[in-house]
Amino acid sequence: MAIAAENRKKSGGKKVILAEPRGFCAGVDRAIEIVERALEIHGAPVYVRKQIVHNEHVVRELEERGAVFVDSESEVPEGAVCIFSAHGVSPQVRTNAASRQLNVIDATCPLVSKVHQEARRFARDERTLLLIGHADHEEIEGTYGEAPDRTLIVEDADEARRIELPEGTNAAFLTQTTLSVDDTSEIVDILRERFPGIVGAGSEDICYASQNRQNAIKAIAGRSDFVLVIGSTNSSNSVRMVEVAEALGTPGKLLPSVDLLDPTWLDGVETVGVSSGASAPEILVRQVIERLAELGYTDIESEVTAKETVVFRPPSGLELPHERGEDGTPEAKPADVTAGKAAKAPSTAARKAAADADELLARSVARIEDLLREEVERWGGVDARAAAPIEAVAELVAAGGKRLRPTFCISGYLAAGGAPDGSAAEDAVVNAAAGLELLHAFALIHDDVLDNSPTRRGEPTTHVKHAKRHAEHGWAGEARRYGEGVAIVAGDLAFSYANKITSTLPGPARDIWTYLGTEMIVGQQLDMALAAELTPDPDLARWVAVCKSGQYTIHRPLALGAAIAGRTDLHEAFETYGVAAGEAFQLRDDLLDAFGDSAATGKPAGLDVSEHKMNLLLALAATKDADVARLVDDGQNWDPERLSAAMLASGVRQDVEDRIDQLVRTARTALTDAPLADGWRERLDLMAERVAYRDR
Ligand code: IPE
Ligand code: IPE
Ligand code: MG
Ligand code: MG
Ligand code: MG
Repeated sequence: MAIAAENRKKSGGKKVILAEPRGFCAGVDRAIEIVERALEIHGAPVYVRKQIVHNEHVVRELEERGAVFVDSESEVPEGAVCIFSAHGVSPQVRTNAASRQLNVIDATCPLVSKVHQEARRFARDERTLLLIGHADHEEIEGTYGEAPDRTLIVEDADEARRIELPEGTNAAFLTQTTLSVDDTSEIVDILRERFPGIVGAGSEDICYASQNRQNAIKAIAGRSDFVLVIGSTNSSNSVRMVEVAEALGTPGKLLPSVDLLDPTWLDGVETVGVSSGASAPEILVRQVIERLAELGYTDIESEVTAKETVVFRPPSGLELPHERGEDGTPEAKPADVTAGKAAKAPSTAARKAAADADELLARSVARIEDLLREEVERWGGVDARAAAPIEAVAELVAAGGKRLRPTFCISGYLAAGGAPDGSAAEDAVVNAAAGLELLHAFALIHDDVLDNSPTRRGEPTTHVKHAKRHAEHGWAGEARRYGEGVAIVAGDLAFSYANKITSTLPGPARDIWTYLGTEMIVGQQLDMALAAELTPDPDLARWVAVCKSGQYTIHRPLALGAAIAGRTDLHEAFETYGVAAGEAFQLRDDLLDAFGDSAATGKPAGLDVSEHKMNLLLALAATKDADVARLVDDGQNWDPERLSAAMLASGVRQDVEDRIDQLVRTARTALTDAPLADGWRERLDLMAERVAYRDR
């Protein structure tokens, strides 16, 4: 940490302990980015309902750039852009906004949306909801609004003891995401004791960021005489952090900005602990550290209790021009390639389709993260070494990726009409989507061993990372074999988790699931075998591309989603679309390997040729060009550079581009008459183009 490095050695004076993690969480980051993107795309003013996150500094900065903060959607001019804050809104607010024809952009934290979702499910089961949280907080106003007739707010342990429910009531509890973990578990214990049949998620509704920041405060409080938490007074999670320190007997103060720091607080204080709430920008921390240095606290130490890797992407429809391919970058084709038109903005129905998919995607990613976190804790508790491969899976998931497989699965489900919010089918699709991304993690970790690849998603691959660790520690045996061993185990675990999370899928979906995994693994074997034998056969290469990659990426996830929605009638259309788009996807992957930019793809360039991959690109080049055929034939003297040059000279690149164009046309045509839900034909058309003409 830069500040610590600068100051640590300066003096033996009074000390600061900086807690980590602190500051912005993934939901806050996303919400701020949404406002920034909306300003860039729509121009000022854009209206934001309530403070986007509870921080004065953030709000002021966005105001300066043209955001207008209002208290109610009723204040927004008809038709204008209205952003809902990270804390979420009630259905009533959504209805009001729709009736005023507002162009709504939803910055609700996906983890808050998850609690709304639970509220709807409990309400549908006709339970009475006990909502643990602060009645005057916007998040609680929003969640309460999901089922106001059957919700009671419980603010503290006393209320939990006093609340009365009629005999025989079926109850459920939910919590605000930013509460104190300890206070909440006390309240939950009381509720469970008083209402034995009550159901709920324990303290799991409290978000990962609140939990981590509270744990970090606990770690520094014991070593500090006084704790400062940087955050605004209306920031619930920041206020809880001060309470956590005080509960441990260390006095603390909430500090909205540096000018409010009162030096008398520090009378007699040798060591001051510093942290910041999830909505407080790091610049405020920096200012406080500087001020503390002036007051003699120049010795700075960081206490790291967890590493956070959670990232939430902004919703679809907020892509910036370069991400939409509208700035003329060479690799980005116009979206409407078939008609030769320039990319046009998506319709409202297609944007709504994309936003619905995003919400389910965020939930499935959160489900993966929860599962992996629990597993790291469980096995790390047995022995720290056991957690290493699980952490490797978690790191790969956290490194991002395009999330194509879960997105296609969710899209298949929604395009097929989906099922009511909170239904078992919706739960199943979230699990299926999570399972697909875990299966993909398994495929990637093993694929990188098979392909001898050093990088993935911009990071060293699992086997390389662990080989390096082996070498650095001077452990016994071969470093490379150890690294590959860890990668095998990590991949196996990812596959096992993928199967676990999909174990309750309904019958027809379960069959698709089982088949798609096997199909991909078999495809990988063929990919290896053709490379070993140096067999450049275009028909076989096409088949392998579809089998190892296209099918589990597009066709099968779509079919899985549709099966969960009970719409097997869509299978034929999805098969034609998915096989074509899947082949286009893998052809683009091969082109990116041969001619792409590894800074964008996050994986090496030129690896396929150096690893003898007999993909369609090479097979077609060998068929049409004698030089390429000769170089492939001469396997003993494999010369990747000459081969790449000969492939380029053969003109095969254009042939493959033409084939991709044709495949995209086939995919689009397959959906022309398919009975899909509103907005979905347009959305799936766009998705086919995106996978075919991507640059990463
Ligand atoms: C890479 O898949 C592996 C293949 C099947 C070609 P992606 O290109 O979807 O990789 P991520 O998930 O975005 O990293
Ligand atoms: C791998 O294809 C397909 C699977 C991961 C199953 P590639 O080997 O071409 O994928 P990348 O290029 O390494 O991502
Ligand atoms: Mg491979
Ligand atoms: Mg590979
Ligand atoms: Mg590849």
